[in-house]
Amino acid sequence: MNILGIETSCDETSASVVNNGQLLSNEVFSQTIHNEYGGVVPEVASREHEAVLSIIVKLALKSADINVKDIDCISVTNGPGLMGALLVGVNYAKGLAISLDVPFLGINHMEGHLFANFINNPELKYPFICLLVSGGHTQIWKVNSFDNYSLLATTRDDAAGEAFDKGARILGLGYPGGPEIEKSAVSGDDKSYKFPIPIVKSSHLDFSFSGLKTALLYTCNKMNKIQLNNEIHNLAASYQSAIINTLIDRLEKAIEETGISIITISGGVAANKSLRKNVINLEQKYNINVYFPPMEYCTDNAAMIALTGYNRFKQNEKSLMELVPNPNLSMENLSNV
Ligand code: KG4
Ligand code: ZN
Repeated sequence: MNILGIETSCDETSASVVNNGQLLSNEVFSQTIHNEYGGVVPEVASREHEAVLSIIVKLALKSADINVKDIDCISVTNGPGLMGALLVGVNYAKGLAISLDVPFLGINHMEGHLFANFINNPELKYPFICLLVSGGHTQIWKVNSFDNYSLLATTRDDAAGEAFDKGARILGLGYPGGPEIEKSAVSGDDKSYKFPIPIVKSSHLDFSFSGLKTALLYTCNKMNKIQLNNEIHNLAASYQSAIINTLIDRLEKAIEETGISIITISGGVAANKSLRKNVINLEQKYNINVYFPPMEYCTDNAAMIALTGYNRFKQNEKSLMELVPNPNLSMENLSNV
């Protein structure tokens, strides 16, 4: 059974083919055009998706060495994300599904991230904890089984990826901020500035990153251009360390409270090497197993959408042609989206 996955929720245009749960191809076009604006411009993102999606789909079919007529189902991200960007993918998927006379399935992007770890670790066992850290979300999920998830923690304001992106803008680094801060931090001392680990009083597992970003802004505002330039690596290292320490602090609490011994990390921020190292250190401390997707499946990709689509299609799920993308799609009521 061949599933074609399509992902266009933000600034990556991606298509993938999965055969009986096994990945055959994953093609990703990253829209670097946004770098010059310092963030994703929604209208530009939609136009870029429109321009390249059919090429990316053809490439994915070619790399998988299958004909378009061999597709049994099309799964496509239908939220959360940017409305215009989602519409490009969903409408393309509907059109192709009609012309091939195959079903199509709307998939929640966040559920895709939860399952990115199965791409390279099909042996992954339930239940597991997933720290999902992307540009729009920072959550800890208890994944009991397929389609059975409990949210343990979420962010009260900015997401971790957003904290990286906003921090990079304050420091005058490029976009996306995560990789830029990571690069700059390599030659810095992470103990040179003390940024707070934010605590949410009403829920000890929840995250808050907006205070951290403000603390960085105040610190930078006290410096002139030359001082800032001299301190950039130390600031990047200390700021990155504060974000990672916060993530690790809450993850440790979740491990202690649930007693679950399998931990997965996913989402764009999971590409951060320092975060990966800190999470790996927990393996010994708690006698647990930690899984990360390879870098290319941390950031947005269609492989995770095709794989999640495969699991849903196996349960005989399909979406109606009336399906409208939802920019704020939540993880509740995932079936029959
Ligand atoms: O999952 P993703 O590709 O898109 C969303 O669904 O949001 O995540 C994008 C986020 C951006 O905020 C980006 O700065 C962050 O992931 N990111 C990183 C790294 N690579 C990407 N953050 C820290 N370190 C990285 N190496
Ligand atoms: Zn994502």
